Amino acid sequence: MLKRIHHIGIVVPDLDAAYGFWRDTLGLAFEKEATVVDQGVRAALLRCGESEIELLEPIDSKSGVGRFLERRGGGLHHICFETDDVAAELEGARKRGLSLIDEAPRAGLAGQICFLHPRSCAGVLVEYAEP
Ligand code: CO
Repeated sequence: MLKRIHHIGIVVPDLDAAYGFWRDTLGLAFEKEATVVDQGVRAALLRCGESEIELLEPIDSKSGVGRFLERRGGGLHHICFETDDVAAELEGARKRGLSLIDEAPRAGLAGQICFLHPRSCAGVLVEYAEP
């Protein structure tokens, strides 16, 4: 079961500059920042009540996020739903015939995560996370 929107992912060209708006102007609380090498990003989570904003700065222009920034500029990138069992949700998506980006859950900034392809998700990149 999908429980809530865990976070919205936003691609930014410069994470430090992005803090100027998301943290300092809007006043969202900083939760954590980390470099996620296999996704080619420096990422940060900022809390807004029950949900979070995830800022993604590419550190590798060939990564998915790097190519997104080059093609489309910064902005809305994905929506992430929280679940208690990311493996079961992924298996459910597979059984329903959805296109998957990840064949198995992997470690991300929000816990164990996986991505579903936008072509199966009404044009939106969807992430599941088990914090
Ligand atoms: Co995310």
